[in-house]
Amino acid sequence: MASRIVILPGDGIGPEISAAARELLDRLGPFQLEERMVGGTSIDAHGTALTGEVLDSCRNSDAVLLAAVGGPKWDAAVAADPAAPRPEQGLLGLRKGLGLFANLRPVRPSRALLDASPLKRDRIEGTDLLVVRELTGGIYFGDSGRDGDSAHDDCAYTVGEIERIARVGFRSARRGVTSVDKANVLETSRLWRETVSRVHEEEFAGVALDHLLVDNAAMQLVSRPTRFDVILTENLFGDILSDEAAMLTGSLGMLPSASIGASGPGLFEPVHGSAPDIAGTGRANPLAMFGSVALMLRHGLGMESAAAGVESAIDRALEDGLRTADLGGEATTEDATRAVLANL
Ligand code: IPM
Ligand code: MG
Repeated sequence: MASRIVILPGDGIGPEISAAARELLDRLGPFQLEERMVGGTSIDAHGTALTGEVLDSCRNSDAVLLAAVGGPKWDAAVAADPAAPRPEQGLLGLRKGLGLFANLRPVRPSRALLDASPLKRDRIEGTDLLVVRELTGGIYFGDSGRDGDSAHDDCAYTVGEIERIARVGFRSARRGVTSVDKANVLETSRLWRETVSRVHEEEFAGVALDHLLVDNAAMQLVSRPTRFDVILTENLFGDILSDEAAMLTGSLGMLPSASIGASGPGLFEPVHGSAPDIAGTGRANPLAMFGSVALMLRHGLGMESAAAGVESAIDRALEDGLRTADLGGEATTEDATRAVLANL
């Protein structure tokens, strides 16, 4: 039977790049595609960024493909009333609701784009790294609140949460794992380091492991990115480092991601946001979305050769000169879609 994929176009450029992804999926299918609402669009229709019905339909799917959520309209509503729903709650609700504790963000600059990065070619050439980000714990999901003129966001981790993400990191390693924390300051980071070291010793002693403090890791990511294979880190550090790492590829518009749990469907999405400034202009770069389709085929549907086919079609299109606006070119979403399909 055809795999069932729930597509969540979301907001901003989301619907445009989702339409492009559907064209790609139609070429690779047959798939059973179902489109549902999430984020601001869902707030407008239902007053909440994620309905129970949409979460259930994601739970019952084989994979979920999400484009982007958020936009100034809903930011303004929250500025006027802090209790108003936020589009991002849809994404966080999906991560938590589907138990997607592991977020994989591969960073591999396409050869054709080595000169599109703001970093020098000789620094980034040969970069091939994977950010393994813990996705359902830490400060994102701790207790938070306001009390008069103070506010707090608690960061908590359990040994079990660290062990399971550490295993994903070690299993993904080809050359080694760099575990990133702030163990010189934070207690959760000391627990992180201790636990990662123990899992390493007990289960993955053959894999190279080093530890870096997050500020040092941020610096080395731009000065010596080729030193990294797997970057294993907690939720907030992973959020920040993965946007930084994206610039090694020339544009945030290039980076795909996969979020997976212990079982059940994974969620696949570009790392970039909803780009409200260019929404509706037909100029969004769909390549991170296509890369996310590739990750969905690989990690979600067990279709490795189709995944590799999509990735090499993206590379070939770029080698043929495809450049969307974010890469300094003129190509539209439609042009980029044609170019990738032509190379498939
Ligand atoms: C990401 C995004 C999200 C995050 C936002 C939209 C909540 O920045 O996936 O990296 O912070 O995790
Ligand atoms: Mg982010």
